[in-house]
Amino acid sequence: MTQTLCNPTQEADLRSLLRELGAEAEKFRFQVAPNPCVGAAVLAGGRVIARGFHEHWGEQHAEPAALKAAERSGVPQSEWDTLVITLEPCSSDGKTPACTDHILKSGIQRVVVSELDPDPRHRGSGLELLQQAGLEVTLIEGGVRLSEVAPHFLRWNELERVRRPRPWVIAKWAQTRAGQLTPPEGIGEGRWISSAESLDEVQQWRSSVDAILTGVGTVRADDPRMTVRAPGDPSKAPARVVLDTELSTPLDATILKPVSGTTEAGGPTWLIARAGADGVRHRALVEAGAEIAQLKGNSSGQVSLRATLDWLWDRGARRVLLECGPTLLESFLRNRFVDQVCIYTGEINGGRGPSMAEWLTPDRFTTRLDRSSGTDSVLEAFPRSLG
Ligand SMILES: NC(=O)c1ccc[n+]([C@@H]2O[C@H](COP(=O)([O-])OP(=O)(O)OC[C@H]3O[C@@H](n4cnc5c(N)ncnc54)[C@H](OP(=O)(O)O)[C@@H]3O)[C@@H](O)[C@H]2O)c1
Repeated sequence: MTQTLCNPTQEADLRSLLRELGAEAEKFRFQVAPNPCVGAAVLAGGRVIARGFHEHWGEQHAEPAALKAAERSGVPQSEWDTLVITLEPCSSDGKTPACTDHILKSGIQRVVVSELDPDPRHRGSGLELLQQAGLEVTLIEGGVRLSEVAPHFLRWNELERVRRPRPWVIAKWAQTRAGQLTPPEGIGEGRWISSAESLDEVQQWRSSVDAILTGVGTVRADDPRMTVRAPGDPSKAPARVVLDTELSTPLDATILKPVSGTTEAGGPTWLIARAGADGVRHRALVEAGAEIAQLKGNSSGQVSLRATLDWLWDRGARRVLLECGPTLLESFLRNRFVDQVCIYTGEINGGRGPSMAEWLTPDRFTTRLDRSSGTDSVLEAFPRSLG
């Protein structure tokens, strides 16, 4: 049991605890985006008995995580007196039940929060609900600022994006030292750049999203499966979506084949073509296992990215992984539809195709994290201009 002391009537103590929670919560920013990073702590008699954080998108929020940790602390529930949270608790069911329900069930009588929910549709409603239920609610503004720990969540809630929403796009790619996405001929079977550890991470990325997006160029060049395997969770295999203007996906492409099992699974495969694409190809591809959506084209006659993102949103996709070649990737970057990047740079020199180097100047990113994965160096960041 942690022995951190915090006098819940001393604002200085609460501010210091909030700062600690904010710093710890921020470590999960790339795993939870577009959700905010949130931390919570349960106090009993001036002692912090448990902490919890929102660690994975679509999974448990910080409040139930802290309450569960409090159960494990051995301190009787009747002694839990205060819940300190870096952000107002949610009061409506989403991917998980409302946090206000967890708080009410816990019997805790006092809640301290540091920021109101920036979403204009929910702002203040979580605190109001708790107050109406008789809890004492304290707002310590500025204890942890969302603009510092989760600027991406403020962008996600910008009026323009709320008015015309689109899924959160995480662009993940592997590149050589020269910033190219295809290795030189004869290296990595002409395809592989990353270390085994990074390939494992990709499986985890895949099971953390609603859809994987790729281009028909990748399907033709690599014939990928786009499935989820261990250490990812095959029970959470996302839809596989291929942008394929003229329905030129080969009829025997592996991505069209259903894969469902406990060790490997793939979601349904959707081909996104432009309206009016060839009817014969359409029928043949449906027979081969594809589902097909025909959307409007852009000014160059290719599938419109905006229409694709609208289509995905309407089907419930909120977080998607872009795993494509340089052509579609540059289209997404140019149109500012990339919200987050995860870039694996392998130890390979040279390469084929355009280099991404011009997109990777330091001024393009906020809150970046540089780390390693096996022999690869990894950059995770939110592009500065998200809109
Ligand atoms: N290192 C990595 O992370 C990685 C990942 C994936 C692929 N790759 C490599 O990338 C290479 C393939 O590159 P690629 O550029 O051809 O593949 P791609 O970017 O996956 O696919 C490009 C195709 O997408 C289609 N598309 C549809 N709508 C589009 C739009 N609005 N904007 C742009 N494209 C649109 C276009 O074909 P249509 O107009 O015919 O539809 C375009 O030719 C392969 O060598 C593969 O190994 C590397």
